Amino acid sequence: MEPLSPDLDGSFFLPAARFFASQSGVGLTYDDVSLATLYSEILPRDANLETRLCEGLQLHLPILSADMDTVTESAMAIGMALHGGLGLLHYNMTEKQQLSEVDRVKFHVHGLIRDPIQVAPDQRIGDVLALIEQRSFSFSTFPVVDASGRLLGLLPGYTVKPRYAARTVAEAMLPRPALHTIREEDLGSDPIASADRFFDEHIGIHKLLVVDREDRLCGLFTLSDVERITQERSLKLKPSRDARFRLLCGAAVSASRTASGELDRERILNHVGALVERGTDVVAVSTAHGHSRGVGETVRLIRDAFPDLPIIAGNVTSAEGVEFLAKAGANCIKVGQGPGSICTTRIVAGVGIPQLTAVHVCATAARKLGVTVLADGGITKSGDMVKALTLADAVICGGLLAGCPEAPGQVLEIDGKFYKQYRGMGSAAAMAAGSAARYGHSAQNTRKVAAEGVEALKEASAPLSTVLTQLAGGIQSGMGYLGAATLAQLREKARYIRVTPAGQRESTPHDIIEVRTAK
Ligand code: XMP
Repeated sequence: MEPLSPDLDGSFFLPAARFFASQSGVGLTYDDVSLATLYSEILPRDANLETRLCEGLQLHLPILSADMDTVTESAMAIGMALHGGLGLLHYNMTEKQQLSEVDRVKFHVHGLIRDPIQVAPDQRIGDVLALIEQRSFSFSTFPVVDASGRLLGLLPGYTVKPRYAARTVAEAMLPRPALHTIREEDLGSDPIASADRFFDEHIGIHKLLVVDREDRLCGLFTLSDVERITQERSLKLKPSRDARFRLLCGAAVSASRTASGELDRERILNHVGALVERGTDVVAVSTAHGHSRGVGETVRLIRDAFPDLPIIAGNVTSAEGVEFLAKAGANCIKVGQGPGSICTTRIVAGVGIPQLTAVHVCATAARKLGVTVLADGGITKSGDMVKALTLADAVICGGLLAGCPEAPGQVLEIDGKFYKQYRGMGSAAAMAAGSAARYGHSAQNTRKVAAEGVEALKEASAPLSTVLTQLAGGIQSGMGYLGAATLAQLREKARYIRVTPAGQRESTPHDIIEVRTAK
């Protein structure tokens, strides 16, 4: 048999650079294209979803939850990180509240707690109760140390009760000789394994304190954390953790302005400084128009003050926008203007680029500049994620996650169906609650400006764990069809074809009576 000409496929199914160039002047989005399948030796379950967004920010799942007030607070951020992704805490709350949301994520199950919250022997139990309330701690056992950090005892949770408010910590604590400790140098190369062994050998002990040679406290293990982490090692979607085993957490920051309209440099730096101090892994300077002076100055300000802090910035949809933010110091660029399910920017302002073309243009620039790209908005199914990931390093989702129990807000029942609120950060209500600066307006006059988002409902969905497992499985299927073992291979191998309206109809279930909706 005469061999087929390799150009037969190559003349129809084009790699990104040739495909998008062939569509020059036309803006395409996810449903406008399909990916060609390729020879594969990759089973979906073996496809690796790791992605590196910048030095020090590596995820096991290329999905971020949007910094929106109906999507990401601590419960969502914890769930995202537990499944290998990342949550970006929104900023429609006071800076103090956002910091305590960061605390909730960073204090949620971690291995060796390097800087455990400590109390002093002369404090009253009432002071400790106030501290728990103020910082929203979900634990109530605290090591007790003297002024030089030397371990004096352990205040057990069962003594931290209003009944004992007037008593001192010294009266209630278990004294030093009764405590179980391990020397830092004895932890070895796998501290979790050492702690796991200790808990095996000491029946009924739940806390192990780590001390240095001078008996100064330098860490704490809790049995439940160590057990969770030990189990995690065999999980399919591994949690994203920092070097100290704490869950990763991102937080959005605003390009705040003073009453006279100047960038409020002091406020921005204080806010970011406090976030860094609490262990925030990445900040996102999130605005509707990232290619603008105020956003560039904000990114530069943060970069100069925090040279090693990962910075996400956006949103842009042009190569020049990417270059502008990368030169200002951003590591990771958010791409998307108007594709979001609650966005009206394109209707109200007449601007924005269909998302797949925008991501292609921005990703091409980003690769040359050594920064990464997040495809933000417009993703409604795992197939969109696969297409986005042929160009971008990760995706940001709002609407897909807003129906989960982990999203903020109550479930509403309407006519026997269950819903959760989902609103654009540019909707009138969200801007009044704090996000006006994101759209270039001041918080005082939001009623006089044009909203760029709507207030909506999403059907209440399954828990985040189910949703993310399905989405991850969908991405892996796509990778299997393209023979891609890694996301880098997916980007390299992808071949595109334009889909007509008839092709789009063919792509979804058709000419049947559907008895169960695929979600
Ligand atoms: P999805 O499609 O995942 O989109 O629901 C989430 C993304 O939409 C952006 N966003 C907005 N864009 N007006 C806009 O034009 C808005 O009110 C608005 N609120 C959110 C944001 O980038 C988010 O990640």
